Amino acid sequence: MIQTDKDAYLSGIERVLISGGEIQQEIRKAGKWIDMSYAGKPLLLVSILKGAFIFLADLCRAVTIPCEVGFMQVQSYFAGTVSSGSVDILLDLQQDISQYHVLIVEDIIDTGRTLSLVAEKLRSRKPLSLKILTLLDKPERREADLRPDYALFTIPDVFVIGYGLDCGEYYRNLPDIAVYRT
Ligand code: IMP
Ligand code: MG
Repeated sequence: MIQTDKDAYLSGIERVLISGGEIQQEIRKAGKWIDMSYAGKPLLLVSILKGAFIFLADLCRAVTIPCEVGFMQVQSYFAGTVSSGSVDILLDLQQDISQYHVLIVEDIIDTGRTLSLVAEKLRSRKPLSLKILTLLDKPERREADLRPDYALFTIPDVFVIGYGLDCGEYYRNLPDIAVYRT
């Protein structure tokens, strides 16, 4: 639904959970982890649109080694269980990933269902290695057998908005991560 009422829009923001400053602090550490883990290796940071676009923009600027970025957009379908899911790739990578160490950069891992299917697809293309880095991890809600290799923040089971994360396509541009008022 298209929104134009600013008061109604602002009333959706319950409270700040993680400030923009705290995010930047953890991004600096994640950048160092990437620098150390991938020095001397061909690195491709893969972001899944749209939620991770702001995070990737900040994270890649905290990386000081050579790296490429790539984008994917996917649509997943589930009929009940994780194993019965399938994923359509709406936008695919241009790179031949068999030449790269691939680091998936995600905004949030919730049930993990979509990401586990995407990871499976990417693994079948035989990258030199495949790891997952996520801004937020919500482990309480996990359904798929999937663990991030690096999570900047672990959060409880609340619906969050801001810093790329949306509710009905709004709030992606908030500088902080906030709890959505349901
Ligand atoms: P999954 O349940 O791990 O497959 O998560 C799929 C997608 O749901 C994530 O990539 C997000 O785009 C979205 N999502 C999950 N939890 C939240 C949230 O708390 N706020 C906003 N989007 C979310
Ligand atoms: Mg996402």
